[in-house]
Amino acid sequence: MLSYVIEGNCKIEGTVKASGSKNAALPIIATAILNPEPVTFYNIPDIEDTRITLKILKMLGCKITTDSGKIVISSKYMHNKTIPKELMHKLRSTVILAGAILGRFKEATFSYPGGCNIGKRPIDLHLKAFKDLGVEIEEKEDYIHCRAKKEMIGAKIRLDFPSVGATENIILASVYCKGVTHIINAAKEPEIQDLAKCLNKMGARIYGAGTSRITICGVNKLHKADYKIMNDRIETGTLLCAAAITGGTVKVENANPEYLLNVLYKLKEMGCDIKIGRNTITLKSPKQLHSVNIETTPYPGFPTDMQPIIGAVLTKAEGTSIIKENIFENRFKYALDLKKMGANIKINEKENTIEITGKTKLKGETVSSADLRGGAALVLAGLSAEGKTRVENIEYILRGYENLENKLQKLGANIKIEKVV
Ligand code: EPZ
Repeated sequence: MLSYVIEGNCKIEGTVKASGSKNAALPIIATAILNPEPVTFYNIPDIEDTRITLKILKMLGCKITTDSGKIVISSKYMHNKTIPKELMHKLRSTVILAGAILGRFKEATFSYPGGCNIGKRPIDLHLKAFKDLGVEIEEKEDYIHCRAKKEMIGAKIRLDFPSVGATENIILASVYCKGVTHIINAAKEPEIQDLAKCLNKMGARIYGAGTSRITICGVNKLHKADYKIMNDRIETGTLLCAAAITGGTVKVENANPEYLLNVLYKLKEMGCDIKIGRNTITLKSPKQLHSVNIETTPYPGFPTDMQPIIGAVLTKAEGTSIIKENIFENRFKYALDLKKMGANIKINEKENTIEITGKTKLKGETVSSADLRGGAALVLAGLSAEGKTRVENIEYILRGYENLENKLQKLGANIKIEKVV
């Protein structure tokens, strides 16, 4: 088990570069299954989630060469259409690969990706959409077998909820469909716009990504292409919040303010001074942070992935803040560890809200990551706490943040990884 050991009372100061986006990388890597021609991706973060995804593509028969952030993939001789359940369970977002396999081969076999610590995370919207595209689905011995009856025909697909993964899966599965596919109530996240830009560069015809109505006109083939993926907006928000919680100042480069507007508004409302550059965001923390209320909603609302992170910062704010989580049913685990560090937090499970009353000087403790973003929240709490904090189970954090401890060390943090046998 790996832990972070953090000396508190630090002030995050300096300039740092954001890495490529985890949540753009995963669906964009999946496009390599759809496209039999060689594809080259740049700015792919070297994190556990991308490593596992590339391992699955290799297991499916893809040829992959990597060279510090540049990845070349050829699926020309890909033969396997089944994602083994032990790999599906490792990483929930592998369900995205199913749409790409289905789109390319008109059949795919996979298992339920399983929930994770933030919620049940079903895939009913994905499966319903596949059926709309003419796919027969049979569940047998905890595998889901998808096969197109004859060919896959474009369809009008209305999503009950603007699911990011379901929107991505429909795009991947419908690129070669006969006719036109319309997604109504599509998710509008920037990662979906990045996926569409990447596929269109390969010769796909996708329109309206970033809006709630996306149109995919079927094409017969895709061609060789290279693509540089967007930077990670949630990592950017995390680094800005590291300065906010420690009373510091940070400039994040390779950052697109457009993709974090709602988070920046809230940080400003909390009293932070925010300066926007061409592709930089600078945050200067005030002497005293103010409390605010937060409601997570689909993009362009306040992102659920920033909810735990801003929750940690709000322990330092004067007054009472209320956070309402509307996307996942179990995303407040980190609050129990913040309470252990001395935070004054009331959790209302029925309402799926927490009430944070500050300001509190947290004290260093041994705490444990229960999920990716909750773990990041505990790291930020440790930076600002009195004394030493040990954050255990940081494998969750390493899944989604590239070299987080190096980035924070360069910004003045005393943080190191410790292997506990
Ligand atoms: C993506 O997950 C992100 N992951 C999540 O980031 C992010 O929190 C989430 O979108 C929302 O923005 C990746 O992109 C790899 P959803 P996804 O489908 O696609 C329910 C992180 O920390 N739902 O938009 O799984 C679901 O249970 C991760 O980087 C169904 O009910 O999210 C949830 O309550 C965490 N049925 C809500 O919709 C379905 O078929 C949003 O899920 C699909 C989803």
